[in-house]
Amino acid sequence: MGAYEDLHARSLEDREAFWLEAARAVDWFEPPTRAFDPDQGAYGRWFPDGVVNACHNALDRHVDAGRGGQTALIYDSPVTGSKRSYTYAGLRDEVSAFAAVLQDLGVAKGDRVVIYMPMVPEALVGMYACARLGAIHSVVFGGFAAAELAKRIDDAAPKVVLTASCGIEPTRKVAYKPLLDQAIAAASHKPDAVVLLQRPELEAELTPGRDHDWAALRAAAEGRTTDCAPVAATDPLYILYTSGTTGTPKGVVRDTGGYLVALAWSMKAVYGLNPGEAFFCASDIGWVVGHSYIVYAPLIIGATTVLYEGKPVGTPDAGAFWRVISEHGVVALFTAPTALRAIRKEDPEGREARKYDLSRLRALFLAGERADPPSIQWAETLLGVPVIDNCWQTETGWPIVANPIGFERLPVKLGSPTVPMPGYDVRVLTDEGHEAPRGTLGNIVIRLPLPPGCLPTLWNADDRFRSAYLDGFPGYYQTSDAGFVDEDGYVFFMARTDDIINVAGHRLSTGGMEEVIASHPDVAECAVVGVADQLKGQSPTGFVVLKAGVDRTPADIEREIVALVRDRIGPVAAFKTALTVQRLPKTRSGKILRGTIQKIADGEDWAMPATIEDPTTLDEIGDALAARR
Ligand code: COA
Ligand code: AMP
Repeated sequence: MGAYEDLHARSLEDREAFWLEAARAVDWFEPPTRAFDPDQGAYGRWFPDGVVNACHNALDRHVDAGRGGQTALIYDSPVTGSKRSYTYAGLRDEVSAFAAVLQDLGVAKGDRVVIYMPMVPEALVGMYACARLGAIHSVVFGGFAAAELAKRIDDAAPKVVLTASCGIEPTRKVAYKPLLDQAIAAASHKPDAVVLLQRPELEAELTPGRDHDWAALRAAAEGRTTDCAPVAATDPLYILYTSGTTGTPKGVVRDTGGYLVALAWSMKAVYGLNPGEAFFCASDIGWVVGHSYIVYAPLIIGATTVLYEGKPVGTPDAGAFWRVISEHGVVALFTAPTALRAIRKEDPEGREARKYDLSRLRALFLAGERADPPSIQWAETLLGVPVIDNCWQTETGWPIVANPIGFERLPVKLGSPTVPMPGYDVRVLTDEGHEAPRGTLGNIVIRLPLPPGCLPTLWNADDRFRSAYLDGFPGYYQTSDAGFVDEDGYVFFMARTDDIINVAGHRLSTGGMEEVIASHPDVAECAVVGVADQLKGQSPTGFVVLKAGVDRTPADIEREIVALVRDRIGPVAAFKTALTVQRLPKTRSGKILRGTIQKIADGEDWAMPATIEDPTTLDEIGDALAARR
């Protein structure tokens, strides 16, 4: 038996021993005496009697071990022209003082703090400071609109919101304060206080009585310290909202102990990183990849994390990632395939990469969306290092399927992120719940329990957790991905089985977009599908039927719909195309044939659905697309 097979089998067959051993990588206040309690929670809880603190594991333990002078965080911001780095001791002191600021604002263990900030070190300081106090952070990505932020404020009910005056996109400055003001005005829950980081690029006016200036509070707390609060391993570290099948986001809860164990294990075994080395994860702290592999995992193992405020292209050019790698001695880069496609489009010959010393780079990791083989091959040839796909979800917090190169590097099969990681008993089931034969497409599920690090539930929504993930296939967690496992045990993820689409590595709900479009006064009904896009993987396209009697120009209404989605969901939805049609194709029972619409839009072969009510409706879809092209 190969080392990987043995490892994976042990993780499932001798769960207690495997995970208690893995738990030794974490510094516990009270080490767990057992790994798993099957009687707690919806499917059991990990390390039920462990007591721990995530900030202690990210910072204090390394300072205590004499590594305080080592670099913990490198901030590299081509959009502002600034760079800064923090040692472990420096960052610990910063976090310790800022935790005192939060305490003064009334934040205590279990309280929520919403963080709506760009990719600046202070955002991480805020996250670690929450962890230090045992408070629960909930970071909201800057590309979401005020209405989305309001939903998250209402669900998480934060005591305090941390924000900045602006984010910087290549073509514009994003003023956060007006968005936050609108969100707080719209939300039923009102936070007690807002702490705002002024950025010189665009300052904001503070709202008296509610808002505090970050720098002023921080300066007043100079020299103050706070201890790391002992929390139960099962206490939440954060809530991270992600798209569900409706416009109401799902608040994924991450518990503390299991997450630390999973991150420590994966940082070494999956990403092959050692203490003291630099890791560059080019995601955003608003996404799960950022939470796990920018903010927490690199520091938990005593490595250096690179926080990059910029884009893969245009800030200033397609060599930006290669510059960061060479300048900071990065040994592994983690990004989304979209970013590679963007770089390749601008610099197909890879001329930019040749300008830099990339000799320390050992591997490139890709996740967030299906890794297209041409991009993988292009990057392998260009960089001369393994390009490793890995697949996971906001819900799992760390890879479900990966190539564990730090443990045993398995041969790559293009199109597959390789094999299940420890604790993940991945199966493929038919819609009827039977195990699908090897190589046959079906529903990718994970036999319960999920491993440490995965969500125990949704915030304030245990029933939704059960119905969304556990009820579909009793005894299994439903990933809502379709795919297959081949004869060698390699897992292939092919498509989502729900209405989630993946745009530039960002997960979006077409159902959520349809809810917004349907609120337009002239719209009778609509369907949004993800149309194949060379750069972003998928791009949302809306087909709209107007109400009878509406005699305004369709082009005007289409423009309003595009603006409405941007205003309600945010620029991140990248919704740019609304097309008016007379009718939508439906089955005789009234179900919109979104799958067929998508195939037509993608120019794929499609079969006339047997249940279609009126086949001519499909011609209309084709005509609308042809007219737009
Ligand atoms: N705050 C505010 N707005 C944001 C934002 C943020 N943090 N991030 C993105 N946006 C905006 C963009 O400015 C853009 O607005 P526009 O419509 O005015 O141009 C819109 O949201 C869509 O953004 P995006 O889909 O990222 O497209 P882009 O054209 O700006 O950039 C890429 C294209 C390929 C460079 C970019 O998508 C990218 O870097 N992708 C990699 C994604 C990634 O790492 N995902 C993490 C998952 S692991
Ligand atoms: P998110 O929760 O935003 O991380 O999105 C999770 C979804 O993205 C998964 O359910 C998959 O559909 C998709 N995904 C993520 N990584 C990959 C990958 N490496 N290959 C294929 N699909 C992926």
